[in-house]
Amino acid sequence: MKAIRITSYLAVALAWSFGMHAVAQMPPRHPAHRPQPPPHPPTSPPPASKPPQLGDPLPGLTKAQMAAWLDGKDDFESPETEASGLGPIFNRDSCVTCHNTPVTGGAGPIDVTRFGRTDGGVFNPLVSLGGSLQQEMEINPVLHEVVPPEANVVAHRNSTPLFGLGLIEAIPDDQILQNVHNTPLDGVVGKVAKVADAATGKTLIGRFGWKAQQATLLSFAGDAYLNEVGITNRLFPVENAPNGNTQLLAQYDTVADPEDVIDPTTGKGDIDRATDFMRFLGAPPRLPPTSSAAAGRSVFQNTGCAVCHVPLMFTGPNKIAALNQQQVWLFSDLLLHDMGALGDGIAQGAADVREMRTSPLWGLRASAPYLHDGRAMNVDDAIKAHDGEAKAARDRYMKLSKQQVQQLIDFLMSI
Ligand code: HEC
Ligand code: HEC
Repeated sequence: MKAIRITSYLAVALAWSFGMHAVAQMPPRHPAHRPQPPPHPPTSPPPASKPPQLGDPLPGLTKAQMAAWLDGKDDFESPETEASGLGPIFNRDSCVTCHNTPVTGGAGPIDVTRFGRTDGGVFNPLVSLGGSLQQEMEINPVLHEVVPPEANVVAHRNSTPLFGLGLIEAIPDDQILQNVHNTPLDGVVGKVAKVADAATGKTLIGRFGWKAQQATLLSFAGDAYLNEVGITNRLFPVENAPNGNTQLLAQYDTVADPEDVIDPTTGKGDIDRATDFMRFLGAPPRLPPTSSAAAGRSVFQNTGCAVCHVPLMFTGPNKIAALNQQQVWLFSDLLLHDMGALGDGIAQGAADVREMRTSPLWGLRASAPYLHDGRAMNVDDAIKAHDGEAKAARDRYMKLSKQQVQQLIDFLMSI
C-alpha cells in the first residue's frame, strides 16, 4: 500500500512539471514597439490560438459531439412550463437558473434545503413528509411545501459548478478506491461512496454532489430533473408529493408520467441532452502561475491539503477521444470524510451525517461562496471551518505565516 502511495506522489510531481511545460507554450505577448493594427471590427481568432475559457466544451470533440453539446446546452438553459410538466412542486424551472455563474454550467447563488430528523443518533429523512429535499416552489399556492415541524435537522446546500464533470465521470472506480488510507495518514482515512446507480442498475462509486450521492451524470440529470424541476423521467418516474400529500398532488398533476419525452429521431430525452452538455463541458482552465502561486503549491502540499485534495487523477480508456486517458486536475480524492463539526447532519446515499465528499478545488476562483451551505465567503474561512479528519491540516494552516497563507490562496485561485 505504502509503495503505491509513493509512486502516485511521484506521478503527481512529474505531472506538475508537465503542467509547467504547458504554461511555457502560452502565446508570447506582443512586443511593445509593435505598430498598432488599423481599427477593424473584432473577429474571433483561429480556435487553436485562443486560450480556453470557463464554459468552453472539452477540446478535441468530434463534430457530432460538439453538436450534442450545443443541443444539450440549449436544453439545460430552456425553462420548463406547466404544459411540459413543470412541478407540481419544484425548486426552479431550469437547470441554468442555479448553474450560471459566471457562465452556463457554473455554480450559482441559489441554495436548496434538506431536512430530516435525528433521534438517538439515527437519521430519518422523513420521506413520508416530503423529505429530505424541500421543493420550495409550486404551480399553485395550495401545494406549498414547508419544512415540517417533525424535522430537527435543516441543512442548506450550495449549488456546485459543473465544469469538467465528464472527466470526473470517466475516472475508473478502482482509482478512487486507491485513495483510501487503510492506515490513517495525517488522521485521514476516507471512504468510497458505494451507491446504487439508477442509470446503469449497478452498484458504483458515487462521486457527484456534496455527499458523493450519484455515480453517473445521467443519474444526476434524472434526479435533478425530477427533484429540482419536477420533470418525471424514465429513471425517476414518480412525482414528489407536497409534504407527502399524494391526494393533493393528484389534483394538480395533470401531465402524464414520464414527462420527459424521448425524441424519436435522436432517441434522447431532456436527461440525455443535459448529460451530453455536462459530459462535454470542459474543465476549468488553469491560470499561468505567478511566483506567489508557484510557492503556494508547496504550501498546499506541506500543509497536508493534498492528502484529500489529490491534485491529479486520470480517466481510463474511453470511446470518446476527448475523455480517453486524460489528466484530471481536480484536486479531490472523490472520497467521503468524517468532517466532524463541518458535517451537515444529513445522511444521504453512502454518506453518514458527518461525512462529506472532498470538494474538487479546480475553478475555485469562480465558485464562491464556499462549503456545502455557502457559509464561507472566502477560501480562508472555508479552510478554517475544516474539522474531523481534516483537523491536522487545518491546525497546520492556522500556524502558517501571513505570506504563506497569501501564497496558498494565490495558488488556489490559479487552479
Ligand atoms: C434550485 C437550484 C438547482 C437547480 C434548478 C438545479 N440544480 Fe444542480 N445542483 C444544485 C445544488 C444545490 C447542487 C448540490 C446538491 C447536493 O449535492 O446536495 C447541485 C449539484 C448538481 C450536480 C453535481 C455536481 C457536482 O459537483 O458533483 C449536477 C451534475 C447537477 N447539479 C446538475 C443539474 C441539472 C442537469 C439540472 C437541471 C435538470 C440542475 N442541476 C438543476 C442546485 C440546482
Ligand atoms: C480530510 C480531508 C480534507 C483535508 C485534509 C482538507 N480538505 Fe478541504 N475539503 C474537504 C471536504 C470534505 C470539503 C467539503 C466540506 C463541506 O463543504 O462540508 C472541503 C472543502 C474545501 C474547500 C471549499 C470548496 C468549495 O467548493 O466550497 C476549500 C477551499 C478547501 N477544502 C481547501 C482545503 C485546504 C487549503 C486544505 C489544507 C489546509 C484542505 N482543504 C484540507 C476535505 C479536506
